[in-house]
Amino acid sequence: MSTCEMLDLGLPGVVADGLQVAATVLLNEPMATNTWRMRLGSPELAERMRPGQFFMARPVGLSDPLLGRPFALFDTQMDESGRPVSIDFGYVVVGKLTRWLSQCAIGTQVSVWGPLGNGFGPPAGNHLAIVAGGIGQTPFLPVIRQLLGLQTYGAAPSPAWPKPARISFCYGARSQSYLAGVADFELPGVDVRLATDDGTRGHRGYVTEVLDELLASADLPTSVFCCGPEGMMRATARRCRDAGVPCWVSLETPMACGFGACFSCVTPVRQPQGDWDYRRVCVEGPVFRAEDLVWEQGI
Ligand SMILES: Cc1cc2nc3c(=O)[nH]c(=O)nc-3n(C[C@H](O)[C@H](O)[C@H](O)COP(=O)(O)OP(=O)(O)OC[C@H]3O[C@@H](n4cnc5c(N)ncnc54)[C@H](O)[C@@H]3O)c2cc1C
Ligand code: FES
Repeated sequence: MSTCEMLDLGLPGVVADGLQVAATVLLNEPMATNTWRMRLGSPELAERMRPGQFFMARPVGLSDPLLGRPFALFDTQMDESGRPVSIDFGYVVVGKLTRWLSQCAIGTQVSVWGPLGNGFGPPAGNHLAIVAGGIGQTPFLPVIRQLLGLQTYGAAPSPAWPKPARISFCYGARSQSYLAGVADFELPGVDVRLATDDGTRGHRGYVTEVLDELLASADLPTSVFCCGPEGMMRATARRCRDAGVPCWVSLETPMACGFGACFSCVTPVRQPQGDWDYRRVCVEGPVFRAEDLVWEQGI
């Protein structure tokens, strides 16, 4: 199903259990307008990846595109014995690599390396609100499945995440046809709240306005996890700061290597002594406390 070798790059910051794998496309189907779900057969990756981590992907045997592109874990599948055997990710077609992915037939080999990045930790308190925009919803399915006790992730057994009393999943897209994988999130214990710019499904307007309703309610979120377009994450970070609610964001900064070697992905992060320094989104992120980030246009 896949050929695999350990990543042995001899570089600081490389994830200890990172692998490079030639994985086989098992499924590649439309999820929403211009959005696809791909399943890659790779037990090695499937059993290692944790919620919020990502992997890099590029074609096997082609030199264009030369650099890999990052994608977040969306789901894993098990065999009859309960062993993770494959991973799903969702992707929007925006350029060279994603166009190539959308044309991949079943059986195509894709070079992937991971797991990469820090991933999400367990949220604080008893009400997690997730705010997702565009394709930024994909990292949150494993977060939710782990919180609900439906699945555990990662090679080393990690401590169980305490189940919050409430999970609010706020997800926005420009129109109904761009909402991808909503049914996957409709699990018992998850309050799914949708928003579309044109009002074709859910709240008419921005997903941050759905968050506003939660922040104004008696059952205030105790943690917010967020991923999506930069402007949406900035607006979410601002609302959380003003409401005094801790917020973690998963950045989608373009990356060249994904494992800490090229410094193409750096972002300014506040340091304990009060100044700031650059940190690599691929190693020290992609998940950061929103208040630790120095947002380019401020919040
Ligand atoms: C940690 C992480 C996880 C990600 N997870 C996913 C995922 O699960 N699904 C998904 O669809 N995408 C995800 N992305 C974004 C994805 O990596 C890019 O869409 C992808 O690199 C585009 O590759 P391409 O060759 O098709 O486009 P390119 O030819 O590289 O670019 C096409 C156009 O898109 C712009 N672009 C490329 N990357 C980005 C970006 N990150 N932000 C804004 N503009 C960009 C380029 O400037 C260019 O205009 C993730 C990014 C990161 C950092
Ligand atoms: S992408 Fe190369 S250091 Fe982060």
